[in-house]
This record gives sequence, C-alpha cells and structure tokens, in this order.
Amino acid sequence: MSAKEDILSIREQFNLAAASVDSEGAINELRVRYLGRKSNLTAVLRGLKDLPPEEKKEVGKLANSVRIELEASLAAMLDSIQSASKKPGDVFDYTLPGRTRKLGRLHPITRTIEDISRIFYGMGFEVAVGPDVEEDYYNFEALNIPKDHPARDMQDTFYINDDVVLRTHTSPVQIRTMKSQDPPVRIIAPGKCYRNEAISARSNAVFHQIEGLYIDVGVTFADLKGVLNVFVKEYFGEDVKMRLRANYFPFTEPSAEVDISCFLCGAKGCPLCKQTGWLEILGCGMVDPAVFEAVGYDPEKYTGYAFGMGIERICMLKYRIQDIRRFYENDLRLLEQFL
Ligand code: PHE
Repeated sequence: MSAKEDILSIREQFNLAAASVDSEGAINELRVRYLGRKSNLTAVLRGLKDLPPEEKKEVGKLANSVRIELEASLAAMLDSIQSASKKPGDVFDYTLPGRTRKLGRLHPITRTIEDISRIFYGMGFEVAVGPDVEEDYYNFEALNIPKDHPARDMQDTFYINDDVVLRTHTSPVQIRTMKSQDPPVRIIAPGKCYRNEAISARSNAVFHQIEGLYIDVGVTFADLKGVLNVFVKEYFGEDVKMRLRANYFPFTEPSAEVDISCFLCGAKGCPLCKQTGWLEILGCGMVDPAVFEAVGYDPEKYTGYAFGMGIERICMLKYRIQDIRRFYENDLRLLEQFL
C-alpha cells in the first residue's frame, strides 16, 4: 500500500469508528488511537523523510489535511456530546417570553397633589411646606380665630396641649410664609391635615389639603377667579364651568365656596352631583386685613387671595372613588389603577 492509500484508509477507519462514539471517554480514546504518538498517522508523518522528494511533498500535504480534519471532527463530537448533556436551565431559550418587572406607582393622593401642583406651578406659584404638629397660634390665632371664637367649632381639633395641635388645615402655612418673607408671595402648600371626626365614607381623621396664597399690590377678587378658572379647566376639562357661592371663613373677607359643573353628567344631574349639576371643590377668599396685621404686612398697601381644597375630595370626584377609606387601605386592586 502506498503512503497515500495508507492515509486514506486511516481516514476511513476513523470515520467508521467515530460513528459509534457516544461518550467523552470514547472521543479521547479515538484521539489517542488516531492522532496520538503511536498512531498510524503519526507513523506516516514520521516516515515522510524516507520518501522521494516529489512524493514527500504530496503525502505530507495529504497527511496534514487529514490530521486537521480528524481534529475538527473530534472537536465537533465533543461539542455535541457536551451540549446534549446540559440541563435545560443551562441553555438559553430565546423563545421564552421575557420576564415582566413590577413597577412601583404613585399613590393616587400623591398623584393628585402632583397634578394640581403642576398647574399652579405653571402659573408661577412656588411650593411651601409647614409642620403637621403646629402651634395653636399659626393654626388658629393668627388666622383670626381666637381661643373663644365659635369658628373653632367648624374644625374638631386634636390638641397635643393647650398651645400645640395637629394642624386642622394647611392655612397655617400662609402665616409661616408671610412671616418669613415680604410680598409678593405666591405659594401653594400641599400637606396632611388632621381632624377629630368620626371616620366614614366621606371623612377620615387624616386627610390632605392644598393651600394657595397670592399677596401683592393690587391683587383683586377677579385675579382669584381667573386663576381658579384656569385650574378648573386644566384639571377637570375645558367644558367645565365654575361658580362661586358666598361663604364664611374667619381669615378671608369676602369668602366664597367654588363649585364646578358636574363633569360626569355635563350638569344634567346624576348620583355624583346628587342631581344638582354642581360639585363643591374648594374654599377661598380675599385675605382678611386682620391676618395682615398678625404677620406685619401693611393692609393699606397689600391685598391678596387664598384658597384651600381637599385633595381626597378632588381625587374621589375625578376618579369616582366612592369611599375615602380606600385611600388608606393600600389595596393593590385600587393602587394599580394609578400610574
Ligand atoms: N382652610 C379652609 C378649610 O380648611 C379652606 C380655606 C383656605 C378657605 C384658604 C379660604 C382660604 O376649610
């Protein structure tokens, strides 16, 4: 047999033996037998030097290419045996659907505060804050509600002691702001409020308000109406109308309550507006001169308006939530409906 025929028959035998290989051990044996130091192929390569020059070149080339071929097919066999023995989890299955990640969301009250604040922010109002545990002076006294004033009955107060309360509204932030800066003042103040009320579908002992205050030279009731009108249309919709009803607050004069036309029924009358066509959304008025005296502003020089609204109420109206207690139960079925 010529050297060339030897090589071709080595290849043939290898291929026959390879067909029945089924383990890593068998592949290694095959490697030793066909490519090892004592293999026939190695012998052929070693014998090259004894061949005549023209044959040497040709046989050498063939032997090398067969060696490379055998190495490649050994590597391929090893690869297929190793990947067949992998556990399912080791293999990346790109046909599986992606894993969803649960995103956190804003609480509807937070969301409502942000939505309302953004509108006033756009009209030049800055955000101010004050403490929840408040001095009687800021919560009542400076707001023209002295200790024996009947208006104190409007709000059932949690007293910490004679001089300290849980604030019953966000109006004390008006006083704190005016005491710390000169006019012009243009703020909104969102935050928690507390009232000692029986808990029901309509009221909770802890709730939120957002206060508004604008003080400058020449501020009028028309400015108040204008700003509220922009807010109402931006928040509830372009078609929503607004009306003011005279009311009383000790710290504003004149005072008013603002109603909006029912956006649910288009003011025709429905359960949301209790067939009246109107929804009450906030209290407001021109800052009483007595408040200016308390904070040291000149009531002859400055005028201003204030308003305050209940966040829960606004949110309940907008999203038709029937019971205020839903906000504090942290039931994901409610919370997941808000982005
Ligand atoms: N503080 C009032 C309340 O809680 C609301 C209000 C704020 C009214 C500002 C007028 C001006 O009922």
